[in-house]
Amino acid sequence: MYETPIVTSDIYYVGVNDRQKSKFENMIPLTRGVSYNSFLIIDNKTALIDTVDVSFGLLFVHKILSVLNGRTLDYLIINHMEPDHSGAIGLLRKYFPEMIIVGNSKTLSMVEGFHREVGNCLEVKENDVLSLGKHNLQFFLIPMVHWPETMATYDKTSHVLFSGDAFGSFGTLDGAILDSQMNEKRFWNEMIRYYANIVGKYGSPVQKALDKIEPLQIDFLCSTHGPVWTEHIDKVFEIYENMANFRAEEGVVIVYGTMYGNTEQMAEAVAQGVANAGVKHVLVYNVSSADASIILRDIYKYNGLIVGSPTYNNELYPEIEALLRKLEIRGVRNRIFGYFGSYSWASAAVKRIKDFAEKMDITVAQTVVEQKHALNIENYQKCVLLGEEVGQKVRELSK
Ligand code: FEO
Repeated sequence: MYETPIVTSDIYYVGVNDRQKSKFENMIPLTRGVSYNSFLIIDNKTALIDTVDVSFGLLFVHKILSVLNGRTLDYLIINHMEPDHSGAIGLLRKYFPEMIIVGNSKTLSMVEGFHREVGNCLEVKENDVLSLGKHNLQFFLIPMVHWPETMATYDKTSHVLFSGDAFGSFGTLDGAILDSQMNEKRFWNEMIRYYANIVGKYGSPVQKALDKIEPLQIDFLCSTHGPVWTEHIDKVFEIYENMANFRAEEGVVIVYGTMYGNTEQMAEAVAQGVANAGVKHVLVYNVSSADASIILRDIYKYNGLIVGSPTYNNELYPEIEALLRKLEIRGVRNRIFGYFGSYSWASAAVKRIKDFAEKMDITVAQTVVEQKHALNIENYQKCVLLGEEVGQKVRELSK
């Protein structure tokens, strides 16, 4: 056996690091990879919590066989069916034909859909308890965190919560698994980036899940991605409470599109205004060159947002349009919002952003700047004023 127990004396980490995939869900850059976490409980009965991406299937099976040390796998508990966690189900079924797949009704129907057959299975409902001997596992349904079948599994004996995607982050586990054994700081921003891009649309279900989970005594918080949290569980919950309710820290994100630099010059002036107001976190992003997942992360992180766009084909600059659509889908709220735009012969961008702002639950700055052709001195000053107005409002909101 080469795996060591990492949570309690009989709960083993059997997950894997993915340092090969460059984009999560084929969209989101993985600058430092991602882990697919899976845990194996050795008791009178053995139980595996979640699987991994199928491309790591053989390595995964070898880890499980090593820990089982000649025993069989009795239960496979599926908290979440997205293929980064369910991909190896079919392979495990071949190694362990008697294995009982444990999931709720939605899970089992997805197992059939993705893997053609379920085989031996046990359907569980909210609060049901499965005893492995010493360990008693209780199931909590947490739908839409972030698929409808998602559930969390709570080990009442060891006070371990296996939470699915909830509380996860990008980033591989470089040696240590527990937060107490590593410098965990690099994971905080990656947790927010993960939430903003993957789970962000589901703030209300996340809050419901938190209400269900927080009364539990949790000594180990085991997400499907990132560290096992033990020292910093309170901080993890606080971050999630804030993100689910769109509470953010003081700061302003300025995102702009530009073709020939005119709208960019407006963004520079706006940034000066925000800084004049005393805001220290000012993040200026060219939407065409910045990583979209980081822009979204920072929009979740900070309470001010200013968007600028040139008019393009009588519409918004396409990448700004895509960003605004993402914000609309996620229902981003509780933000101070400002906007500006430019055009060459027909004005459209500013009107489109205004239409967006009217649909959202955000506080919109009175100052709006629209520039025809290159930035003139009058509109330069107005851009500074826009930045100052948003900066002042952001500071008031943060008090
Ligand atoms: Fe990590 Fe929703 O899958």
